[in-house]
Amino acid sequence: MSDRESNVGIDQNRVIVFDTTLRDGEQSPGATLTTDEKLQVADALVALKVDVIEAGFPAASPGDFEAVREIARRSKGVTVAGLARANGKDIERAAMAVRDAEHPRIHTFIATSDIHLNHKLHMTRDEVLDRVRTSVALARSFVSDVEFSCEDATRSDWDYLVQVFQAAIEAGATTINVPDTVGYTTPTEYVALMEHLKTNVERIDEAVISVHCHNDLGMATANTLAAVGAGARQVEVTINGIGERAGNTALEEVVMALQTRGERFGGGYTEVETTRLVPVSRLVSGLTGLQVQVNKAIVGANAFAHEAGIHQDGMLKERTTYEIMNPQDVGWEGTRLVLGKHSGRAGFRNALKELGLVLDESRVQDVYERFLELADRKKHVTGADIAALVADEVAGEDGSYELVRWNAAIGTGGAATASVVVRKDGGERSGDGDGNGPVDALFAAIDAAVGLENELEYYHVEAVTPGEDAQGQVHVRVRAGGQLYTGHGLATDIVEASAKAYLAALSHLEQERPDTVLMGSSTSRWS
Ligand code: KIV
Ligand code: ZN
Repeated sequence: MSDRESNVGIDQNRVIVFDTTLRDGEQSPGATLTTDEKLQVADALVALKVDVIEAGFPAASPGDFEAVREIARRSKGVTVAGLARANGKDIERAAMAVRDAEHPRIHTFIATSDIHLNHKLHMTRDEVLDRVRTSVALARSFVSDVEFSCEDATRSDWDYLVQVFQAAIEAGATTINVPDTVGYTTPTEYVALMEHLKTNVERIDEAVISVHCHNDLGMATANTLAAVGAGARQVEVTINGIGERAGNTALEEVVMALQTRGERFGGGYTEVETTRLVPVSRLVSGLTGLQVQVNKAIVGANAFAHEAGIHQDGMLKERTTYEIMNPQDVGWEGTRLVLGKHSGRAGFRNALKELGLVLDESRVQDVYERFLELADRKKHVTGADIAALVADEVAGEDGSYELVRWNAAIGTGGAATASVVVRKDGGERSGDGDGNGPVDALFAAIDAAVGLENELEYYHVEAVTPGEDAQGQVHVRVRAGGQLYTGHGLATDIVEASAKAYLAALSHLEQERPDTVLMGSSTSRWS
C-alpha cells in the first residue's frame, strides 16, 4: 500500500483503514498525550491491523516531530503518515519525521472552500491551485506515497474541487481525500459528490479516494459508509470517534458496519482484527481521559447488555434474536478474563495478549508487579483492571510528579484537612490544605506543594469493574493559559486515585509549559 501501484493494485473492495487517533483525535480538547502514551497507542493500532497510522503533525512542535519519528521507526507492517500544511517547511518536516518508516506517507492539505480562502488563507483559487501542484510535487520528491486533502471539501465549489484534485493527481498524489471538515454534509450529498469527482476528475482511478468526516450533526459514520458504497476506498477514522469538537468517524463503527452489512456498502471490507476493538477503545479512553458513553455502539459498556425481560428471554432462547454481532468478535470476552494472585506470570502475559496490549519487557515487569499488589487487595482481577493498570503505567513517566504520602481527615460539620508529600526528579515537597471534602483538601495540599497556577475544569471518578473492591479511576482536566491538560489516576482508594490524577495533569501542564506561573501562596521547598 505504500505507493501508487499497490494503492490501486489491491482487491477493489478492500477498504484501507487510516487511523488518525494520534493526529485529529489528539486534537480533542484536553486529550493531549505524551510521547510514551502515543507509542502505546501506536503499538495497539498495529496489533489492531489498521493500514495507515497518521502519527501526528510533525511541524506543530518538536514533541510532535519526535513522536511521529519514533512511531515511524517502530511500527512494522503498516504505513505511517505525517500531516503537513501545503508549504515547503511543513512538508520537509513531515518527510524527515516519517523517513524511517517501513511505508512512509506524507499527507498534505490546503483548504479549498471560498469561506476558508477569503477569511483564513487570503488566497485566490488560482494561488491555491498552484500551491497544490508545488506541494504535492515536493512531497513526491521525498516519498512515493502522498495523500492530498482539500480541507472543507464539502463546502467547496464542486467544479473547483475537480480542478484541484486533478492537479494533485497530476503532481503525483496517490490518495485524494475529501474531508467533511465541519461535519456539514449528508449521506446522499456526499454520494453525489463522490460521483461528481469520479465522473469529472481525469485519471481519478490512479488514486485511492479517501473520506474523512466529522460528527457535528451526528452523521460521520453514515456519511463515511455512504461514501464507501459510492466507491471510496480509504476511511479516515479514530478510536471511539475522538476528535475536534463532536469528533471524527469512529473506527469501530465503520469496521463493524462493514463486517456486518458490507453488502450494503459495495461489498467493502477491512482487515482489522476486530477482537482488539474493545481493548484499544479502553486504552485510548484511559490515556486521553475521554470517557466512552455507556450506550456507544460496539465499545460502550451497555453495547451488549440486555435489560428488558422480553429481550433477556429471547437471548436465553437464541442469542441472535437480539444480537446482530457477537460480543466476542469485538473483544468483550477478553475484558471478562479473570485472574488472581495465583495466575502467575504466564497467565498474566496471556491476559495481555488476549487484551491486545503490546508492552516491552520492562513494562511487562512493572505492570506485573502492580498486578500482584492489586491481586492482594482484590479478589478477581479482570481484563478491564489490567487494561487500566497498563494505561496508568504509561502515564507515570520521568519528570512527572509522584505521590509519596498523603493524609486526609474529615469529620462532621468541619472542613476537611489534608497533607501531602510529592516527589519529582528525586526531590520531595510537602504541602497542607483544607477544603470541602477530602479530595478538595488534598488538591489544595497538592497546590501548596507544587505551586502551579491552574483551574480545575473537570473531575470524574468511575469504578473500573463492579464490586466493593473495585479500582477507582479518576480523570481530571485543568486549565492554564487557555490550554487544557488531563491526567488520570488509578487506585483502590478514590481519594488516592484523585491525587494521582491531579498530579498527572499538573505534570503535563508543567512539561508543556515550563514557563507556567508559580502561585504566590506556595511556601514549600524542594528537598
Ligand atoms: O478535517 C479535516 O479537514 C482534516 C484535514 C487535515 C484532513 O483533519
Ligand atoms: Zn479532521
